[in-house]
Amino acid sequence: MGSRFDEMRIFSGNGNPDLTGLIAARVGVPLGDATIVQFSNENIFVKLNESVREKDVFVVQSLSMPNLSDRILELLIMLDACRRASAGRVTAVIPYFAYGRTDKRDQARVPITARLLADMIQASGAQQVLTIDLHAGQIQGFFNIPTDELTAMHLLVRYWAEKGWDDMIVVSPDVGFAKRARNFAEALNAPLAIAEKRRVQHLGRGDGIHSSSEVLNLIGDVTGKRCIIVDDEIATGGSILEVVQLLRSKGARAIYACCVHPVFAANAAERLRAGGIEELVTTDTLPLPPEKRWPTLTVLSVSNLIAEVIQRIHSGVSVDTIFSQRNHPALGH
Ligand code: R5P
Repeated sequence: MGSRFDEMRIFSGNGNPDLTGLIAARVGVPLGDATIVQFSNENIFVKLNESVREKDVFVVQSLSMPNLSDRILELLIMLDACRRASAGRVTAVIPYFAYGRTDKRDQARVPITARLLADMIQASGAQQVLTIDLHAGQIQGFFNIPTDELTAMHLLVRYWAEKGWDDMIVVSPDVGFAKRARNFAEALNAPLAIAEKRRVQHLGRGDGIHSSSEVLNLIGDVTGKRCIIVDDEIATGGSILEVVQLLRSKGARAIYACCVHPVFAANAAERLRAGGIEELVTTDTLPLPPEKRWPTLTVLSVSNLIAEVIQRIHSGVSVDTIFSQRNHPALGH
C-alpha cells in the first residue's frame, strides 16, 4: 500500500539518540536535521533545519534520565516546531513513557501525571503516538489520538526460548504484574511463580496489635529451577533484588531477570550487578551509558520493531499483524 505522504522524516530528541539512529538506518532514511540547544537561562530552543511541510514526521524521544524534565520539554517543543512548520502528520515516538506509575488518584490530593503528560503531548501537536510497554495499559486511553502500544516482551521471550532450558520457571515480582508474567510464561511454555508482598500484623504484649511489617511470600515452587524474573521496568532495582533473595532462600538453582525498560536510577546498576543475578536481559528503550553496563547485562534492541512499525504507519499498513506474524500470543497487558 502506498503512503498519503510523499516523504517521511525522523527527528531525534536527546532522550536516546543512538536508538533513533538505529531506527532511521533500518527505515533507510537519513536522520532529520534539527538543532536543539539549551540557553544559559535553561530555556530550550529547537530549530528544524529542513522543511517538513506536508511530510510524515516522526519525533523519537525516550523520556529518559538524567534531566527527565528537559527531555519532556524537548519533546513538546519539537512537536510544536513540527506543527508550526506545517508538517503533514506528526507522530510522537516515545519508546519509554515516564510517569507511568502516576496513573491514578490512589491517595488524597495527588495528581494523575501520566494523564497530564498525555494532554501536553497532544496539545503540542502530536497527531499519533507510538510507544512500548506502558506501565499500565489504561494509559493508552489518556490520549485522544491514535496510540499504538507495542510490546518488546516477545524479544525477551525469544531470547530465553533460544536457551533451550527445560527447567525454567517465570517469576512475577509482584501480584500486579502477574497477568503479564503469566502470558510471558505461557509464551515460554514454562510454569509461573508469583512473589507477593503482604503486610503482617504482630501482636504486642497485651491483646492489641503492636506493629506491622511487610513480608515477601512466594506462590509456586522454584526448588532446583532456573528462575526468570520478568518486569516491565527496573528503576532502583529494589523490587527485583528482594525477589532474588527470596528465590535463593526457596532453593532456586539459578536466578535470571529481564525487563523492557532499564531505568536504572541512582546506583541501581551497581546494586544489580552485585545482586547475584546470573544474567539480566533488557532492551534499549532507554540509553545505557558504559557505567551502567556490565558483562552479564544483555541489551536487545527495539530498533527493528520500531522501524518496522514506522514503515507500516507511513504506508498505511496494519500494525496489529506485526505481532501475529511473529507467532506470539498477546504479551501485552
Ligand atoms: C512496579 O509496579 C513495576 O512493575 C516495577 O516493579 C517497578 O517499577 C520497579 O521499581 P524498583 O526497581 O524501584 O523496585
